[in-house]
Amino acid sequence: MAGNDVVVDVSGSIATNRADVIGARDAAGGAGFHRLARFAAVLAFAVILLGAWVRLSDAGLGCPDWPGCYGHLDVPAEPHEVARANAIYPERPVETHKAWKEMIHRYFAGTLGLVVFVLAGWALARRQQPGQPVAVPVLLAGVVILQALLGMWTVTIRLNPTIVMLHLIGGFTTLSLLWWLVLRSPGSPLPATAGSGRRLAWLAGVGLVLVIGQIMLGGWTSANYAALHCPDFPTCQGDWLPPLDYGEAFVPWRGSELDFEGGVLDNTARVTIHFTHRLGALLVLLYVGGLALWLRRPGQPSRLRRFAPVLLAALALQIGLGISNVVFSLPLPVAVAHNGGGALLLLSLVTLNHLVHGGEGKGRGMSGEEA
Ligand code: HEM
Repeated sequence: MAGNDVVVDVSGSIATNRADVIGARDAAGGAGFHRLARFAAVLAFAVILLGAWVRLSDAGLGCPDWPGCYGHLDVPAEPHEVARANAIYPERPVETHKAWKEMIHRYFAGTLGLVVFVLAGWALARRQQPGQPVAVPVLLAGVVILQALLGMWTVTIRLNPTIVMLHLIGGFTTLSLLWWLVLRSPGSPLPATAGSGRRLAWLAGVGLVLVIGQIMLGGWTSANYAALHCPDFPTCQGDWLPPLDYGEAFVPWRGSELDFEGGVLDNTARVTIHFTHRLGALLVLLYVGGLALWLRRPGQPSRLRRFAPVLLAALALQIGLGISNVVFSLPLPVAVAHNGGGALLLLSLVTLNHLVHGGEGKGRGMSGEEA
């Protein structure tokens, strides 16, 4: 009997130890996944800024081929390499500083792509774990593949505005999904709670859609080189309502034959695009600003009341940077910062949607307490 007791004790403690070890390993895996998702979100933000820097310093065609640069993994540097590159691409002779900008963006974007694939593989491997998001990491892998294709077409279809704008949106989508992953995975800095009801979910959703639309309009303004076609503010070419031509301004596809560098639209069409981006900003200001002020009111959930100033600050920053773009005639740092500000405003709306949606029944293992 005594011998049997010993056997039971020993096997029981082995079983407990094994469960402890597996539990600790799963927890460490979850924390590692969360850290990698955070790193990827920061990297995605950097890639967006780098992309803007490339686009706005007219280096988007710094390398006329893809994925290499004049057939190189880096930039042709030796005189014979440059001579050969110039012979193959006589219409695009090597401009080393532009080529380097383009390649630095590709190195960062490529690293981000690899990290996203690791996240997707890791999520699939951990799919049995409570609270482990799987759909978003897999979706992200798809978005990254699409982004690589759009990046290639940006070059091969020579800055077609639709492709440039979609590539911009793809970057913002990647960032938003990564941030959503950070918010919704175990270890979230803002664990999901009980949710705030359908009305708030709707209001936050509409705010998100408006900001996405405004970012698309901004991308269209930039891709059509319409930034300086309203050089004054708040008027545009001296008018409160300048002559507009919506028929020409928003043609979604003008073929793949043209070289779109510098823009192909006439003055009125570009004024229309720029002016519409300003109208969009006014709408976003009224809606998101109004929503944030409403969230500040007593009676709203405390975490939403605390979050409202973040929303207001992101909004004010972005509007201020947009106006500075115009007033100071598009200095590169301000134009790049306007992209960063757009990304921060978008992330604020993503966060608001996370806060109002709650996590019950969706993210297994979410914390249920009110913050
Ligand atoms: C909620 C407000 C706003 C958002 C989310 C937003 C977003 C954006 C984005 C994402 C771009 C694309 C930048 C690029 O492709 O590099 C852009 C471009 C631009 N935005 Fe805004 N914007 C806002 C408000 C404004 C305001 C108020 C103005 C001016 C009155 C403005 C002026 C411009 C100009 C001039 C460009 C073209 C920049 C270029 O070609 O480099 N924006 N905006």
